[in-house]
Amino acid sequence: MLHLPMEENLLDERLGRLASLQPLDRLQHSRNVAGLSATLAGLMDCNEDQIRKMYLGGLLHDIGKQFIASSVLDKPGKLTQEEFEQVQRHPWIGYVHLYRFVSDSTILNTVLYHHERWNGSGYPHGLVHDEIPLEVLFTQLVEDGCLVRNRQEKPSNKALALQKSTGIVAG
Ligand SMILES: [Fe+2]
Ligand SMILES: [Fe+2]
Repeated sequence: MLHLPMEENLLDERLGRLASLQPLDRLQHSRNVAGLSATLAGLMDCNEDQIRKMYLGGLLHDIGKQFIASSVLDKPGKLTQEEFEQVQRHPWIGYVHLYRFVSDSTILNTVLYHHERWNGSGYPHGLVHDEIPLEVLFTQLVEDGCLVRNRQEKPSNKALALQKSTGIVAG
């Protein structure tokens, strides 16, 4: 039987406090990524310590956004190239921030590499294939799932889905 880890057993107090400084919507996203990453790690028969680290990596993966202006992060509409480059710095900023007091490579790799992509199109380093640590691929997988769901929840996309379902727009 699958044992799903409970949040209170996994949450390191100090890192949990740090994660809780995120604005509510981002904290909710991070909790979703953390919980799903831990669940996936459990399904893959990872041990309890690995599951805990996957959870904390997910909880902290976007912590670098704390250091980027909300006027950029929450800007409605299209970002300028310069703003986009600012947002793309959040994995590196988060890594540098955590590196001072976190030594675990699973957590640090998740923060630094969660926007790398299998085909090399990601950032910050444009890693390809197995240059990306396995545990980070787990987090990417669940994060992409969360982001797809978030996009579907936006009113404009709901309207688009409705239009598609009624045949107004081709699917
Ligand atoms: Fe994220
Ligand atoms: Fe991110």
